[in-house]
Amino acid sequence: MDRVLVTGGAGFIGSNFVHHLVRETDAVVTVLDKLTYAASRDSLAGLPEDRVSLVVGDIVDAACVDPLVARHDLVVHFAAESHNDNSLSDPSPFIQTNVVGTFTLLEAARRHGTRFHHVSTDEVYGDLELDDPERFTEATPYNPSSPYSASKAGSDHLVRAWVRSFGVRATISNCSNNYGPWQHVEKFIPRQITNVIDAGRPKIYGAGLNVRDWIHADDHSSAVWAIAQRGRTGETYLIGADGERNNLEVVGMILAHFGRPTDDFDQVTDRAGHDLRYAIDSSKLREELGWSPRYGDFKAGLEDTIEWYVAHQDWWRGDKARTEAAYAAQGQ
Ligand code: NAD
Ligand code: TYD
Repeated sequence: MDRVLVTGGAGFIGSNFVHHLVRETDAVVTVLDKLTYAASRDSLAGLPEDRVSLVVGDIVDAACVDPLVARHDLVVHFAAESHNDNSLSDPSPFIQTNVVGTFTLLEAARRHGTRFHHVSTDEVYGDLELDDPERFTEATPYNPSSPYSASKAGSDHLVRAWVRSFGVRATISNCSNNYGPWQHVEKFIPRQITNVIDAGRPKIYGAGLNVRDWIHADDHSSAVWAIAQRGRTGETYLIGADGERNNLEVVGMILAHFGRPTDDFDQVTDRAGHDLRYAIDSSKLREELGWSPRYGDFKAGLEDTIEWYVAHQDWWRGDKARTEAAYAAQGQ
């Protein structure tokens, strides 16, 4: 039986991963989460108590982290400050959690010989031109743009150094943009869905031509589990589902779902340093570990996600007004 410590398991992708483990495996899971603004206990509601427990704590706190890492077989590390826009207004918690927190976990994994999987982002590679025929691969040089992506790049480098210098049994994955249930309303897709539910207009940064390579969070979860089980120590695997869409297309699909004209949105102040395009070549993961996404069709996954936000208004409504007030204050 696997005893798995999931950091950040009360956040968006971490909670999707915990649901995935309960559904698809026999693993017994401890979630370690600080319960920041981005977390919700409700994202873990209804899971069996003999399979999932929650420890409220900070990954920067070695006294909290060390005994937890000691009594698990595997750490899957999702905990992070994750929103680019927030990293522009205050980078400090990004350095603390993403860099110092990852360091603290790695030291514990080193002391106890615990297997470690580090969850990261394709944003460490910077961005691509719209017409670039190449996509990101494991060999693409690091070139992060924002405080968020720079802090994630720093954490990836720490993991590689702890593998090489101290023999920590770690793997890394860099995934493209996720969508699905339990995503905070500050992020692009839930923000626009909930704006439309509230009879408001979607808010597009700049011209809306920026491209993201969308993957459903459950497909990210299955890929992370495949790597944690069968990935080679020291290796990096890129995760993506061939879901490139520009922001105008995504907003158009959301508006069309609700029967609204596809140009019924506002253009707002662009993000400083806004990355133009991300695109993932996930051949290594598919060929080496036999992984493939369940949501082959972005439109079908988006429809499911829209319906989830319609049906779970209690889950997001408490965060919506505060999130929109913060955006409005910065012209977004
Ligand atoms: P999220 O912001 O929804 O959740 C982050 C979770 O980490 C929250 O539950 C929060 O309370 C917790 N946390 C934050 N600081 C902590 C600390 N110091 N100690 C303990 N817990 C802490 O983020 P997400 O979108 O679910 O992203 C999860 C991971 O996946 C991150 O590492 C992110 O870089 C990576 N990632 C995200 C995406 C995406 O599209 N969202 C894509 C690729 C990779
Ligand atoms: P986001 O969900 O913040 O993810 P990331 O910055 O990690 O890619 O944003 C996705 C895209 O949507 C990005 O190009 C910025 C854009 N965006 C908007 O146009 N409007 C919004 O309200 C938000 C939050 C993002």
